[in-house]
Amino acid sequence: MEIDYGLALADGLGQGKVTKKALEEFSPKLIEAQNWLKAKRASKELGFMDLPFQDPSPILQMAREVRREFDHFVLIGIGGSSLGVQVLFDALRGQSSGKGPSFHILDNVDPVKTTEILEGIEPENTCFCVVSKSGSTAEPMANFLVALETLERVVGRDKARRQVVFITDPEKGNLRDLAKEEGYRALEVPLNVGGRFSVLSSVGLFPAAVLGIDVERLLKGASQALKSCEKREMASNPAWTIAALHYLHHTLEAKSISVMMAYHEKLAIFADWYRQLWAESLGKEGKGQTPVKAVGAVDQHSQIQLYSEGPRDKIITFLQVKNFSQDCRIPPLYPQKPALAYLGGHTLGELINTELAGTASALAKRGVPSITITLPLVNEGYLGALFMVYEIATALMGRFYDINPFDQPGVEEGKRLTYGLMGREGYQEKGKEAREIWAKGKRGTLTIDLGD
Ligand code: PA5
Repeated sequence: MEIDYGLALADGLGQGKVTKKALEEFSPKLIEAQNWLKAKRASKELGFMDLPFQDPSPILQMAREVRREFDHFVLIGIGGSSLGVQVLFDALRGQSSGKGPSFHILDNVDPVKTTEILEGIEPENTCFCVVSKSGSTAEPMANFLVALETLERVVGRDKARRQVVFITDPEKGNLRDLAKEEGYRALEVPLNVGGRFSVLSSVGLFPAAVLGIDVERLLKGASQALKSCEKREMASNPAWTIAALHYLHHTLEAKSISVMMAYHEKLAIFADWYRQLWAESLGKEGKGQTPVKAVGAVDQHSQIQLYSEGPRDKIITFLQVKNFSQDCRIPPLYPQKPALAYLGGHTLGELINTELAGTASALAKRGVPSITITLPLVNEGYLGALFMVYEIATALMGRFYDINPFDQPGVEEGKRLTYGLMGREGYQEKGKEAREIWAKGKRGTLTIDLGD
């Protein structure tokens, strides 16, 4: 895996304050952040850094049972409880061993999506995996109740209990209580691992193993990356490099937007995962960068104009893959037509990567900084490494901004107001507050009447 960052430095861009010297001058801050990370890890607060060294056998054992028993697997969870699994599924689908169950994610509470998924499976042959660390988030709880009713209708109450697996807090919460009271199978999310940092815990590993993904290689990739991220020289530490460049570009050059643009459809969801990690961890106390997802080459025809000539407020990270699991040769069919002839004999893989190089160069000409991360190929090891590098980079960014990257008070307030609006016991005051605010929105209303 390579991280090219010359085009994020003034020397490569031909302009700007983020020079090699600025990076060097920043290194005491990096050392301080590294020490902070070390101390936090030693006091067992950063569970995500210990995940690569866990023994996954109990998770694998349960996954083998589920893989044997069921034809369909429905994951119910949202945010940090679903995005990492979605990355693994999208990236590795087609590469995993054996056939395994069909895979569906019920993240949103969109009634049409939920209905379509439940109508598309055979409930009697389906494992429903409910992932919620808190065991109280409205979306997974609602989808769980809808799915459970469907399941019980078909197989009855007792059998339904054998078809549901909870992944939740080891001690508390509704799912943990239900597992104890009603005998549902359950796995644990370690207490010191937060949702968006949990992909390498049972949250990601169990569904991955059910899908036939090599979980041990995933953990090994993460542990190797962790080793690199512990190095004390910036030049060989990927998390430092990424965090330092983003922080310096934000604070010295007002780059308040961080775009991740994946030039491989299988990595597009990684940009969603990154978006959540960066946004929810760092967007606090008026600080943080706005993460944006883009997909190359498609978004060259939608967003690049803005990146190139719009506000100078972006730093871009390109993701590319050297060797695609499949490539397509472009046939030399019209040698007499120059606009088609030059393509003949190349491959689509060559073209997409060349488009990245062309785009990064065009942006550099206009002074837009970019970093390019190249994976030799998409496999478990490199995904494990990418997850770990970005989790550590996010933690470092939290330290630089001097905010807590591991909580999400802004999300929690939205959850509480929704509970109040939906009539949850104990949240009446919140409901009242939300109704009053919402009513203000209705003071300025216009209607478009289509007459039906
Ligand atoms: O990163 C986080 O903590 C959040 O995105 C959570 O994963 C998300 O809100 C879901 O929470 P829970 O797993 O408790 O249902």
